[in-house]
Amino acid sequence: MPRNPKAAVASRPVAMAVVLVTLAVAGCRQDMHDAPRYEPLEASTFFADGRGSRMLVANTVARGMLREDDHLYQGKINGQLTDVFPMPVTEEFMARGRERFNVFCSPCHGQTGQGNGMVVQRGFRAPPSYHEARLREAPAGYFFDVMTHGFGAMSDYAAQIPVNDRWAITAYIRALQRSQQATIDDVPVGLRANLDEPAPQEEPEP
Ligand code: HEC
Repeated sequence: MPRNPKAAVASRPVAMAVVLVTLAVAGCRQDMHDAPRYEPLEASTFFADGRGSRMLVANTVARGMLREDDHLYQGKINGQLTDVFPMPVTEEFMARGRERFNVFCSPCHGQTGQGNGMVVQRGFRAPPSYHEARLREAPAGYFFDVMTHGFGAMSDYAAQIPVNDRWAITAYIRALQRSQQATIDDVPVGLRANLDEPAPQEEPEP
């Protein structure tokens, strides 16, 4: 029993009103639900070929899909993989490459590119180290090409990683390679005294 029977009686019309309003609102929505349109790949009696989804018009390119620039989109100049980046390699670009590398590549290639990422430690086929001579000597365009088209057991990342980010990752791989081959000459003279200091602690990965 409700403690206050009067209150229970008073709330009944309110409940009715809520139901009515809900029905009314749901009713309005129905119009949009039933708007005439084709579901993806639904059949059509309107077009002669019976398809609701239309084929691309021959010899046309969708807006934003023209990929004429082989340097940017294939990593090639005159049909050859190139070592030249199609955009300036700035500190910000490099930081972006590092972040994307750690997301997409380090699970297999490891954060330093040795090929010992966590997925490999759990049994996936080990990729070659980026620090072997063959890959150190490969042009930048080669790394872009592997991400764009895949390589052997590694699938491509064209769908997941936009073009500019693939170049940013390439720039960061170059830095990783350099980092494993550095000599004292790479350290500016003024900073050499700092080498004995402990490395600054990085923020832990979230
Ligand atoms: C799921 C694991 C995996 C991920 C993630 C992955 N790779 Fe790989 N990668 C491999 C394997 C395995 C190979 C060796 C494939 C083979 O030899 O058949 C490889 C090979 C390569 C090679 C060497 C090709 C050669 O000539 O030997 C490059 C360069 C490379 N990957 C770059 C990348 C980059 C850049 C990313 C991130 C965008 C990435 N990979 C993400 C597994 C992975």
